[in-house]
Order: sequence, then structure tokens, then C-alpha cells
Amino acid sequence: MTVGAESAAAQFSARVAAVRARITSSGADALVVTHQPNIRYLSGHSGSAGILVVSHDALALLLDGRYREAARRLLEEGLAPDGLEVVDVPASYDSATLAYVGERHLRRVAVEGDYLPVGRFRWFERMSAGDGRTGPLWQPVAGLVEGVRTVKDVAEQESLRRSARGLTAVAEAAFRFVREGVTERDVAGVIEAAMRASGFEKPAFDTIVASGPNGALPHYRAGDRKLASGDLVVLDFGGVMDGYCSDITRTVALGPPGMEARRVYGAVLRAQQAAIGQVAPGRTAEEIDAAARAVLAADGLGEAFSHGTGHGIGLEVHEAPRVGRAVEGSAPAELMAGMVFTVEPGAYLPGWGGVRIEDDVMVTGVGCEVLTDVPRELLVL
Ligand code: GLY
Ligand code: MN
Ligand code: MN
Repeated sequence: MTVGAESAAAQFSARVAAVRARITSSGADALVVTHQPNIRYLSGHSGSAGILVVSHDALALLLDGRYREAARRLLEEGLAPDGLEVVDVPASYDSATLAYVGERHLRRVAVEGDYLPVGRFRWFERMSAGDGRTGPLWQPVAGLVEGVRTVKDVAEQESLRRSARGLTAVAEAAFRFVREGVTERDVAGVIEAAMRASGFEKPAFDTIVASGPNGALPHYRAGDRKLASGDLVVLDFGGVMDGYCSDITRTVALGPPGMEARRVYGAVLRAQQAAIGQVAPGRTAEEIDAAARAVLAADGLGEAFSHGTGHGIGLEVHEAPRVGRAVEGSAPAELMAGMVFTVEPGAYLPGWGGVRIEDDVMVTGVGCEVLTDVPRELLVL
């Protein structure tokens, strides 16, 4: 075992135990985990293929030959949950899963309905019933692992803090580089190089550098436009560190900003502060969204705020909780200590440009901790 392995193993085992409790509540004998971030969360296996079968008395990681050595190392170093067994996949993952479920006499098998393609689900059903077969009952479920993942454990909180803090140096590098005449793509290149230099494994998503009128497109990427004096420039970037994502946006001014730029920036900043000020356990994600929306609406920018206020971050850059308007048929997401999400209101005015300000926050016992650490006042470069 390597140093820290004992606590890593305990952390994984606690996650598995929490998921087992939810499997019990769902009435299933086992859950077949096919969503890669969920597999990584529960087993430590970070390869791009694999299936994890969590049952009440066993934990099997089904892997093909490409991952055998990586799995052996995880087990040898103790960086995996207690009792993890690696099962060889000689040909097809789904055949191996079907065989494993049969051998263990699992009767009600839950699958991740949000991720398993319908065609594969029907294959499991077809191979289990009809023609005299009396195989297991396959049952799509939603959110069994995600419901646990939403509240970050101590190890995850530390990784998310490191990931968010790492963006400070990246922002500084971007601000030093932004000037008239460089292209959006040049700026994105500098941001991504600074991420690697700061210890990030990779960007968490395609870096957005949206200058001048391009700022009106919330999910613009970075193009050939040259930055010009008088532009507002939306810089939205994030990285993956220890597997955990961070996500920040700053909007900067190139040369003295005009009245409208100051007005819109001020409104978005107040909206963000109002939303962050509401974050506390017991509040709902919808209330956080409403707080930001109310400020922008009061400034006549309600229509200009065309997306949700934020999203959870963790092993994925977009995960639960969704911080947006209430959705019909979905229960309101109640905030709990340990949840981590972005707060990123914006205002987008076609033909003119846009402003977005985004930070990452963690819900604490009484309020929240802002994880990202970059000044939020309008920076004039
Ligand atoms: N860059 C994507 C986002 O902020 O969610
Ligand atoms: Mn972002
Ligand atoms: Mn975001």
C-alpha cells in the first residue's frame, strides 16, 4: 500500500456503502454502472471503458485487456474500495455483464437509465426473457450514484479547492496577454498553456474567448477575431486537476469601457453577488437562480439573461445540482453542505456583446465558501 492508500480505500468504500443503501431502497439486487464518472467515483478506475456491478455482497469491475495492468496497480496500491474484484471481459462488455449477473443469481438488476442506450437495454431484456429464458428483470433507474456524488466528501472538497485556486494564476496569465490586435484563439492558447503550467491535466471544456459582439453568444468558443479597443472580452475557462473540474468566467474591458458596458457589468455583478449571498444549506437551487434573475430583471436585463445561473461541478464540468428555473416533474434541489456549483449570471445583447461573471462555490454548514479567487471588479486592460 502507498501512503494515504488506507484513507483512499476507506473513502471509496464509504461511497460504495452509500450507493448500496440506495440500491436497497430501489428494491434492486444490484446496479450496473456504465457512466464513466460514476465508475471512477466508486472504484478509482479512470479508463474510458469498464462496467462496475455493485451488489449487496460484491463489487465487480469488468475490464478488457487494455486496462488489466492499470487495475492491478490500483489494487496493489490499495487505491480502490475494499473487496473490489476485477472480472475479465474477453469479448463484449454486455455479454460479460450478462454472464456475471447470471453467475451471481442477481434477479432485479438496475441500470443507469440516463446513460445506457435503449438498444443495449433492450438487448439485456431480450437475452433474459422469452424463448423459455427466465433471466433477471432489468430496471432503469436514475441518479442512484449522482445523488451521492452531489455532496462532495472531504477528499473531493480538497481536490475542488485546488482546482479552483489553480485558476488564479491562469487568469493572471490571460490578463497579462490580452491586448489589442491578438486574436481570440491566441488568448485561448495562452490560457490553455497556463493551465498545463499550473498543474492541470487538461482543460475542463473548450476555452471561450468571446470579444466585442461575439460576447453575445454565451457558448461561443474562440475564433479569428482580433481584439480591439473598446471591446468587452468574455474569458470562460476551467481545468481538470486530480480529476476534478473548475470553471470560471471573467469579462474584461480593452480600453476605457463605455456607459453601457459599465451599466451591464454592474448589473451582472450585483446579480452574482445576490445569488452567492443566498447560498446556504436548506435553500433550493431555484432560489439561487431566482435571486440572480430578479436583479437582472429589475435592470431591464431579464430577457438578456438567457441561461441558468449555474451547475454542479465535480468529476464532470456539468453535473447536479442544476441551478436554474424549476423544471416540471422535478423536485426542487435542496442545497446541502458539501455541494459545489458555479454561479454565473450573464447578460447578452445581440450586436453589442455580453458580460458573464462566474465563480465556483461550496455550500458550508452556514453559507458558502467561494473557491475561485480572482477579483470581480471590471478589469480595464
Ligand atoms: N463554460 C461552460 C460553462 O460555464 O458552463
Ligand atoms: Mn464557464
Ligand atoms: Mn459554468
